[in-house]
Amino acid sequence: MNDKLKSLLIVGHAPSPNAKALVDALLNGAQSDDIEAVHTKLLSPFECDAQDVLAADAIILFTTENFGYMNGALKDFFERIYYPCLQDLKRNEAKPYSLVVKAGLDGTGATESVQRIITGLKWREALPRLLCKGEHDLEFVTLCFEHGFTMAASLDNGII
Ligand SMILES: Cc1cc2nc3c(=O)[nH]c(=O)nc-3n(C[C@H](O)[C@H](O)[C@H](O)COP(=O)(O)O)c2cc1C
Repeated sequence: MNDKLKSLLIVGHAPSPNAKALVDALLNGAQSDDIEAVHTKLLSPFECDAQDVLAADAIILFTTENFGYMNGALKDFFERIYYPCLQDLKRNEAKPYSLVVKAGLDGTGATESVQRIITGLKWREALPRLLCKGEHDLEFVTLCFEHGFTMAASLDNGII
C-alpha cells in the first residue's frame, strides 16, 4: 500500500441512464492511467456516511436538479453528515470539493441549495461548478470525464 495514496470520493445518485453516464464519466476521468497516487471511490449518497466524507481528501458531488433543488438522495446525505462533519474540525474544514449538476432546464436551484450547505460546512471549492443542462449530449460525458480527471490530477499533484 502506498502511504501517500490520496482518496477522492464521488458522491452521486444517478436516477436515469443519462445521469449514470455522467457519474461513470466522472469516475473514469478520475481513474485515468495518468493519475498515479489517487484512489477514487464512487458511492451513492445513501451508502455514504460522515466517516467516508472525513476520510476523503477531496469530494465530487453529483446531483440532478429535481423540483428546483438538489435531488432527495443528496439532501438525505447532507442531513446525515452535516453535524458529524462539523464536529471534526481538523478533517472537515476547508475540504476541497466540486459540484456537478445535471438539469433538464435550469440548474440554479440545485446549485444554490448545495452551495448554501457547503457554506455551513466550510468546504472549499476546488473547481468551478459544472452544469450539464438540457437534453442529454455526449459533450456532457466529455466534460464530466475532464472534471473527474482534473480533480484527481489536482489531488495527485498537491494542487488542492
Ligand atoms: C421529479 C423530477 C423533477 C425535476 N425537476 C427539475 C427541475 O426543477 N429543474 C430542472 O432543470 N430539471 C428538472 N428535472 C429534470 C431532471 O433534472 C433530469 O431528468 C435529470 O437531470 C436526468 O436527466 P435525463 O432526464 O436526461 O435522464 C426533474 C426531473 C424529475 C424526475
